Amino acid sequence: MTNDVPLSGDKYVLPRNESEFERLNLQHKYIAKVVFDGKLVFDKSIKFDDKCCVLDSGTGTGIWAIELANGVPDFVEIHACDVSKANFTPDPPNNVHFSVASVTSLPPGWSNKFDFINQRFLLGSLLADDWHQALSEIYKVLKPGGAVQLVEFDARSPAPETPVHAQVRDAVWRVFDALGLKYDVAVHLSEMLETAGFVSVVEEIRRLPLGKTWGEIGVQGTISLGGSLRNVCGVMVKAGAVSSKEEYENLMDKLEEEWDIHGNNYPCYIVCARKPL
Ligand SMILES: C[S@@+](CC[C@H](N)C(=O)[O-])C[C@H]1O[C@@H](n2cnc3c(N)ncnc32)[C@H](O)[C@@H]1O
Repeated sequence: MTNDVPLSGDKYVLPRNESEFERLNLQHKYIAKVVFDGKLVFDKSIKFDDKCCVLDSGTGTGIWAIELANGVPDFVEIHACDVSKANFTPDPPNNVHFSVASVTSLPPGWSNKFDFINQRFLLGSLLADDWHQALSEIYKVLKPGGAVQLVEFDARSPAPETPVHAQVRDAVWRVFDALGLKYDVAVHLSEMLETAGFVSVVEEIRRLPLGKTWGEIGVQGTISLGGSLRNVCGVMVKAGAVSSKEEYENLMDKLEEEWDIHGNNYPCYIVCARKPL
């Protein structure tokens, strides 16, 4: 893990440490399985056979970019950017290029560079206004005709809506609102892409299973998404949503017990679109 100072304006609510590094990599495998049928790109018509450029925006550990590199010819140029390099995986494949850059201000030299851009789970990262800026930057760096894939889950709408889950959801929602983050971003991605000028916007929803009633995949869901809720503890205590770390951890234990009994799930939005030719 690299110690670094993230770019100014960084609003990210999760820590960047060993436990998050592992959680993000596990979460990647879980999402690939439950959302993407083991693949990395939702739109099956997209191929990386020719020389092309790909960007993974808000890459975290870079796991999506690295797995893509392992499955495509090495002439495919893959960039992976993040506002902080703290979680970058050391020694990525030769055609994966990490850089520190915010999606709200991508390098001018990248204009019209990319054929495909992936961005997943920036829910706890971007302020409401940042989202419009981010999508216009993604538009700027895509080639005409290039495609974008955005993946976010709707943390407001667990199903079924069980008591502890509703309590946690409301508490996190209040804190996200107070921080200016966009808790409901998943349901607005399509309209925001259209506003940014994208065309052929296609939205799909898949369910993210949580808890033991779903078997092994539900356990992975608990570790991945329950783990992210556990890791926002610092922000929740600082915002006064709970009085102590112990109180929050106790609540998380009850939440996971509830998931094990009720087999809850979150809707996950995959929104694909193109920059016009
Ligand atoms: C929940 S992690 C998701 C990482 C990765 N996309 C994945 O799905 O495994 C969110 C990532 O977004 C990064 N991030 C936060 N603000 C950002 C910004 N303005 N521009 C680029 N990345 C940002 C964080 O540093 C973090 O690595």
